[in-house]
Amino acid sequence: RSEEEQTEDYLFKIVLIGDSAVGKSNLLARFARNEFYPNSKSTIGVEFQTQKMDINGKEIKAQIWDTAGQERFRAVTSAYYRGAVGALLVYDISRRQTFESVGRWLNELHTHSDMNVVTILVGNKSDLKDAREVTTAEGKSLAEAQGLFFMETSALDSSNVSAAFRTVVEEIY
Ligand code: GTP
Ligand code: MG
Repeated sequence: RSEEEQTEDYLFKIVLIGDSAVGKSNLLARFARNEFYPNSKSTIGVEFQTQKMDINGKEIKAQIWDTAGQERFRAVTSAYYRGAVGALLVYDISRRQTFESVGRWLNELHTHSDMNVVTILVGNKSDLKDAREVTTAEGKSLAEAQGLFFMETSALDSSNVSAAFRTVVEEIY
């Protein structure tokens, strides 16, 4: 087999989903470029970044797709999910409403992609300790009930950001 074909085997499409302003774009910016934008605008359409990762000495390329949480700014849903093998379903630990939307996002994910898509539930903005509206135990328990991995992250202070992406990629691989 050609080099090109071998590389193809290790290109994994991963989608970011969750309500608007939970921090999807900043998780990607932190992971792929080690950047953070305190005043980032809503994503319009679709963006993606390919990030090389070393998993057990193998080079894996994670192609991470990001779109708007808000319906009116989103790209065509079926195209967004097509071919995805991993997903980060993100809520904001300081806004309960975003946690309550998780079920709706799971439905959409399961409607448009394979049931086997490796999914992690991500409670982002763990740095906002005083504003917390969703406990870690609640996040963990929902994840367990739905058969998802779980982690709390902060795109602002970097905690668990790489770990969340790695968890998904390692499980796919
Ligand atoms: P849409 O594109 O509209 O779906 O939003 P999004 O989920 O991509 O959110 P985005 O990354 O644009 O972040 C929204 C706001 O939250 C921005 O002001 C970010 O600076 C802020 N933000 C993102 N992650 C964190 C975090 O971990 N901690 C804190 N304190 N703020 C964050
Ligand atoms: Mg965005």
